[in-house]
Amino acid sequence: MDFKRLDEFAKDMLFEAGRRIRESFSYDLEIETKSGANDLVTNIDRETELFFIERIKTFDPSYRILGEEGMGEKVDNLDGVVWIIDPIDGTMNFVKQHRHFMISVGLFVDGVGKLGYIFDVMREDLFYAIAGEGAWYNDSPLRKLQPVVIEEAVIGINASWVTPNPKINHEKLIELVRAVRGTRSYGSAAMEIAFVVSGKLDAYISMRLAPWDIGGGTIIAKEVGAIATNLHGEWFDFLSNDTFIIANPHIHQLILDKYIEEK
Ligand code: IPD
Ligand code: CA
Ligand code: CA
Repeated sequence: MDFKRLDEFAKDMLFEAGRRIRESFSYDLEIETKSGANDLVTNIDRETELFFIERIKTFDPSYRILGEEGMGEKVDNLDGVVWIIDPIDGTMNFVKQHRHFMISVGLFVDGVGKLGYIFDVMREDLFYAIAGEGAWYNDSPLRKLQPVVIEEAVIGINASWVTPNPKINHEKLIELVRAVRGTRSYGSAAMEIAFVVSGKLDAYISMRLAPWDIGGGTIIAKEVGAIATNLHGEWFDFLSNDTFIIANPHIHQLILDKYIEEK
């Protein structure tokens, strides 16, 4: 398979999708809720996913697309070539802030990640990787992550997990928040993953992410030595939701052992 050609195809597609999304601010957004009042989707999420599907199917009709908005065929295995796509990650930021949202794309061949992209649409910033060849931030290679100690780490975590909740022992997470240098919460899982792989954050933890939130990012992670697993330290099936941590390799196991206790 010609991954260089696929990489060029993917980048062209991302930049064009980005242009379309930015232009969409000049006309009205149709905003709906999905699973709950805070789970938003817009006509632009759906139109962008359809744009990806049309482009990819024109390139090769045998390729399948697993997208958040379910605009393509049903995908229940990763046989052959599967593109895992979140057309807008951080829809709440898209709607409310008109910034800080990403397109996340991963290309998998028989379940193995080959090309990964996280594209900051408003900044036109691209984090990407070609498996086995490295990772880049725009034109600059991303370095292997340098050692960090927990006391100097800056971690991404949503504040709600540090309050009483049914999923995780929040008292332990309070200890983690006290142990580290700082915490951040950006409202886009893909953005937080992009920040970990580029050393702007040292870890990011979430209680529930979907394959399209993490597909592209996990491929970039491998190239820079970031470790991504669920909160049991296991790899993902990329077909179901799971807990999630991505971290600098020097603190990944420590965080799991000392600060994570699922209920
Ligand atoms: C969401 C964002 C958010 C994360 C949620 C995701 P969406 O994706 O990544 O930061 O906390 O779990 O569902 O719905 O904006 O694509
Ligand atoms: Ca998402
Ligand atoms: Ca989304």
